[in-house]
Amino acid sequence: MEYETPLFFRVMQYAADADRDVIDMVSGNPDWEPPSALREGLREYADLEPDAFQYPASEGLADLREEIAARRGVDAEQVVVTNGAGEANYLAMARALERDRGDEILLTDPVYPYYPGKTAMLGGRQTYVSARENGQLEPGVVREAASEETGAILINTPNNPTGAVYPEETMRELVAIAEDNDAVLISDEVYDHFDLSGQFASALGVDSDHRIVTNAFSKSMAITGVRVGYAVFPETLVENAKSRHMLVNVATTRPGQYAVLQALRETDPDYYERNRDLLRERVDTFTNALEAAGAEYTTPQGSFYVMARFEGLSGTLENTFELIDEAGVAGMPGETFGESRRDWFRFALVTPRVEEAAERLAAYFE
Ligand SMILES: Cc1ncc(COP(=O)(O)O)c(C=O)c1O
Repeated sequence: MEYETPLFFRVMQYAADADRDVIDMVSGNPDWEPPSALREGLREYADLEPDAFQYPASEGLADLREEIAARRGVDAEQVVVTNGAGEANYLAMARALERDRGDEILLTDPVYPYYPGKTAMLGGRQTYVSARENGQLEPGVVREAASEETGAILINTPNNPTGAVYPEETMRELVAIAEDNDAVLISDEVYDHFDLSGQFASALGVDSDHRIVTNAFSKSMAITGVRVGYAVFPETLVENAKSRHMLVNVATTRPGQYAVLQALRETDPDYYERNRDLLRERVDTFTNALEAAGAEYTTPQGSFYVMARFEGLSGTLENTFELIDEAGVAGMPGETFGESRRDWFRFALVTPRVEEAAERLAAYFE
């Protein structure tokens, strides 16, 4: 079977191989510091006894699951610690499909490209529901698209790539649509700490046997390489998900889980607020420069991406390579994120050089 392979790595490689200085705004790899307790936890781990280097419990370290459960207001039994949000999404989608209540997964357009890839890999069928131009999802349109063939509705808030943050009414309605169609709402909330709007509402706010929430510490702690995430399942769905997790992975990284637990316990809210402030500043700087350049752009309510459209250059892979070579700025082609953003590019604000990047783009399009 052909899987749709996301293009991130290809674009990053092209930028790395370029013959000039390139400002990398491709991936969602934060350039800021992880919490100091995370670094300390990893250092401390290196000196533990040999038994700490052996298999942990498959579903995650008990203390970490307890800590997550307490923070999220759920039972620890509902929590599976995963290899990032990536695995959490895979487990959630697989679990929804194996209920045999429909093989269709409703995705949004624009979409985070790993979702269609995973849908195909799991033998599901994808149907796209268009988001509004401002990135918001109209529950009425989702309700219209849902049917008895729908196994899951997969959404992401704060959203990559649009930056939309769905309000509480939308979340409530999406859970209701899943319930009414005997499907599962999967809510990927990996950017929850990067809500810049104050409007973020987790799907966990709505109690239901028809929703799974996925998350990770990859973005909130700036540790995409450490690979610790989690999924919260309804009690009725959790057991099979644990089995799949065990059969695919055995377990996820034990040192990573240890360090994340330490960081959860010891990191002040200030850490997260500082990173949000940094991001707010970068959004302002980047969008002001895009405005001055006469480009069209999105202003994210959350996550860390800005989409921009420049007259005369559509968001293809080829044109992304052109911007790398000619402007020295690497973004992602909009076409990767679905039909609706074919004319756009996505830029990740994970570099201190956002102003320079916007100036380079402006100079190129002058
Ligand atoms: C929407 C979304 N979900 C999941 C992931 C993957 O997260 P993780 O690195 O924790 O697997 C990303 C990473 O960029 C993402 O943007």
